[in-house]
Amino acid sequence: MPVLPATDETIARAAQALAAGRLVAFPTETVYGLGAAPGRRTAVAKIFAAKDRPQFNPLIVHVPDLETAESLAEFGTEARALAAAFWPGPLTIVALKRPEGGIADLVTAGLGTVALRVPAHPVARALLTGALPIAAPSANRSGRISPTEAGHVAAELGDIPDVILDGGPCARGLESTVVSVVGEHPILLRLGAVPRSEIEAVLGHPIDLAAQDAPIASPGQLERHYAPQTPVRLNATTIEPGEALLAFGPNVPDGADTTINLSPAGDLNEAAARLFAALRSLDESGARAIAVMPIPDDGLGEAINDRLRRAAKAR
Ligand code: TXA
Ligand code: MG
Repeated sequence: MPVLPATDETIARAAQALAAGRLVAFPTETVYGLGAAPGRRTAVAKIFAAKDRPQFNPLIVHVPDLETAESLAEFGTEARALAAAFWPGPLTIVALKRPEGGIADLVTAGLGTVALRVPAHPVARALLTGALPIAAPSANRSGRISPTEAGHVAAELGDIPDVILDGGPCARGLESTVVSVVGEHPILLRLGAVPRSEIEAVLGHPIDLAAQDAPIASPGQLERHYAPQTPVRLNATTIEPGEALLAFGPNVPDGADTTINLSPAGDLNEAAARLFAALRSLDESGARAIAVMPIPDDGLGEAINDRLRRAAKAR
């Protein structure tokens, strides 16, 4: 198995693998990514093949700092303010691509824009110092639950990555929030680890969520996503026979064969960090269905509920 604890040595080896056109899985503070050098078309094509990802769905380019981001895309005042407030961290900014940046068209699905993010995880940062930009989607098969542990990546992708750098469980557990600064006003393309209210506080005005059926605005927002094999039932207050329970908060109904509580204390940060691992584990529990207790829709709850709704879409 290609899972290796992240050390100076294995990070250097991973950087070499990227430079040689191979794929590397690495931890970020949100979820694990499956990376390739963004200038190498063949390497990038391997990501789409490995994930079975439609080629109209562009990848995020991870960069070490704002300066590198600005060499790849055009940043205005609001983009710079967002970068200053949230980078390094779980915010992705979609901006107009500079053609001279050397990003393969496949990375951006032929769009004139590019999604950029400066991750905060020390392993991702060390890898970026060695390898410069890295194009990376989440390291799961398309439509499946994003990996928040190295073992999840191995379960999803086996030995497709040359190396899976193990940096432990991801502290945030939800993917980055994606904001486009391409139009007249910034717009949210994906809810994520930075709550909407924090973005609004930096911008000084409200920000809308793009219509989820606008194909160009958010090509990755496929309705059925983050999907376990087991059916998911939302807003459950009682348990039906054969159900496993994804609980939240102190008052948990009885009767489930298996229960995982995302946060007995009702803390949304803790719930976000544990969400994907919990869904994976309940999916493997053999239950007939997964009942999910109601989760408040404020702060990070908005993104948690977004992922749960997608997980629950009937197939
Ligand atoms: O937290 C994260 O963002 C993780 C880690 C690995 O960084 N990455 C991640 O990548 O979640 P992925 O590929 O699973 O999701 C990227 C999202 C998709 O919804 C995609 O459609 C959108 O970003 N995206 C990428 N480039 C875009 C562009 N040029 N215009 C609009 N949306 C874009
Ligand atoms: Mg993904």
